[in-house]
Amino acid sequence: MRHLMSPLDFSVEELDQLLDLANDIEKNPAKYAHACAGKKLATLFYEPSTRTRLSHEAAMLNLGGSVLGFSSAESSSAAKGESVADTIRTVSCYADIAAMRHPKEGSTMVAAAHSSIPIINAGDGGHQHPTQTLTDLLTIRSLKGRLDHLTIGLCGDLKFGRTVHSLIQALVRYENIEFVLISPEELRLPSYIRHDVLKRNNIPYKEVVRMEEALPDLDILYMTRVQKERFFNEEDYVRMKDFYILDKAKMELANKDMLVLHPLPRVNEISVEVDDDPRAVYFKQAKYGVYVRMALILTLLNISVED
Ligand code: CP
Repeated sequence: MRHLMSPLDFSVEELDQLLDLANDIEKNPAKYAHACAGKKLATLFYEPSTRTRLSHEAAMLNLGGSVLGFSSAESSSAAKGESVADTIRTVSCYADIAAMRHPKEGSTMVAAAHSSIPIINAGDGGHQHPTQTLTDLLTIRSLKGRLDHLTIGLCGDLKFGRTVHSLIQALVRYENIEFVLISPEELRLPSYIRHDVLKRNNIPYKEVVRMEEALPDLDILYMTRVQKERFFNEEDYVRMKDFYILDKAKMELANKDMLVLHPLPRVNEISVEVDDDPRAVYFKQAKYGVYVRMALILTLLNISVED
């Protein structure tokens, strides 16, 4: 039995296969429409979500399976004090696979340790968000044609943004990747990622505060929101929240083929006037999230679909 805790749980070759499968699902949805008939996905969300929960559910429904679950800790027996370990042992009796989001870092590892079904980490605190990373990789590979030889700007809350942490870990395995880390001083990428991931792998990167300085050199701009829920006080959040706003004027500084990604939800960091720019692909990215989660469910359940 296999879980997905981190994007590094798959080798580069396995990731290629998964992304190939997602692209095939996109092209031939009917072929996969009954692949998970009789199977159940449980979505265990202790934190709010729109895309991650609903795209996992859409993925299982598209595969002909069924879904069950809860969308907040308050609506589950966690509110009565039940542990993650006991919850997952129970859910293992009801479902074939589970996607879990939890505010505490490492909680999905605890779930996996007590589970008899595959567990998908759908976000654990400020730590990892591997299915978002699969989504980001599929989006970049499908629209850019490659995952190597890229200069990627990561902008916004690089301290608490778990999507950024997972994406960096996944991309450093490809050739000729460079990062431009765009953040205010208070929201810099954690030092353990700068040292243990970027420096240890000799990945070129620079840190800048001004987005305008970085834009002309980028193949990909990955925007993130400031993670209000992880701040210790409201005053700091209010000071930081509108630090970056990507608008039409800033897009003029970028290459004509630079792609703008965002894991969403967006707050103010991308002006809605950018949405019509063909380089703004964040809603396409949300759609790729369904295909890649379909591929992931098939892979973790060890189900193959013949032509
Ligand atoms: N990208 C993402 O994780 O969105 P949700 O919080 O809506 O699931």
